[in-house]
Amino acid sequence: MMKTSGSFELRKFVAPEFVLGTDARLLAGRYAKNLGARHVLVVTGPNILRHGWVKGVTDKLAAEEIDHTIFSSVTPNPRDEEVMNGARVFKESGCDCIIAIGGGSPIDCAKGIGIVSSNGGNILDYEGVDNIPIPAPPLICIPTTAGTGADVSQFAIINDTKRKVKIAIVSKKTVPDIALIDPLPLTTLSHELTAHTGMDAITHSVEAYVSNASSPVTDINALESIGLMHAHLIPAVKNPKNISHRYQTMVGSLLAGLAFSNASLGAVHAMAHSLGGFSDLPHGECNALLLEHVMAFNYPACPKRYETIGKTLGMDFSGCSVAEKKEKIISGIASLREMLGVTETLDDLGVKKQDIPSLARNALQDPCMATNPRKPTIKDIERIYEEAL
Ligand SMILES: [Fe+2]
Repeated sequence: MMKTSGSFELRKFVAPEFVLGTDARLLAGRYAKNLGARHVLVVTGPNILRHGWVKGVTDKLAAEEIDHTIFSSVTPNPRDEEVMNGARVFKESGCDCIIAIGGGSPIDCAKGIGIVSSNGGNILDYEGVDNIPIPAPPLICIPTTAGTGADVSQFAIINDTKRKVKIAIVSKKTVPDIALIDPLPLTTLSHELTAHTGMDAITHSVEAYVSNASSPVTDINALESIGLMHAHLIPAVKNPKNISHRYQTMVGSLLAGLAFSNASLGAVHAMAHSLGGFSDLPHGECNALLLEHVMAFNYPACPKRYETIGKTLGMDFSGCSVAEKKEKIISGIASLREMLGVTETLDDLGVKKQDIPSLARNALQDPCMATNPRKPTIKDIERIYEEAL
């Protein structure tokens, strides 16, 4: 069942150009100019604006005599109507380029705005794989969390507010033209967001590594990312201003993003998308609460792969039986989550037992489920949700 790197199946790897390092965000003016921009729509969120991370970027645009309009009406779990409003502002302001500054939400919203600006219609028309006929305007992404991976990925996740589900748009046309990956904005990230987005990155790597669509290249990125997040995520939470730990988590997030963009994800993300569409819960937190339960379910499909993940997390399995290895890996992930302070249950977040059947139905429909290493039934999904309740 498991895909191994020895199977010689065809695999492709897509990645945008990116610049990684301190003050990378300040290259935005030069890159916008190279892309021929005259008026940029800056898509961001209220917190990023408040911390001043947008100003440095817009100053660089001004220095290149490029106009800009700021669009910051974006909530976590970006909604279809926010994308449509952004596309209207893009058109009315005469924009020809987009810069996204923020976590996964502003970046996914910016991707949606670009798709609608070029193709017209509603963002929900573009659900699924390779459904975007016309390329979007140039997009520059500046991530401000270490977890999303949206700045390098082929994915955009948008909340369909009528159906209360998150739709996935997967296309090479959603890959940014350039990602400017700068650890500095991480220094103003809260403890909670650092923990949630960090667990998101770890989930990206774990799911990409055990995915049916993994490849030798995604494997390298996934494992390196797990090692980096393991070494630097807790220190980054404890020392939020320490640029070295922040930098390493940014690298971990980047590598996880490259891995999942190309190997896709699995049941954790399918189930987290369902939760996020249903009741607007934080994406990273949903993943954190589900990961250990999905790992326990998936374990029999690829025990060797999980063992490698355990070793990357610094575990020693000498003398352990298969059952002991499984127990060690799953409790290791759970204790990492607890050390990060993510100790709620789905029940604490307001999920009710009677919500589970419809949550499970939506999760089973999510495109991320296709690459999960073990094919679950609807009952399996319901049971995993119950365990996390
Ligand atoms: Fe994610």
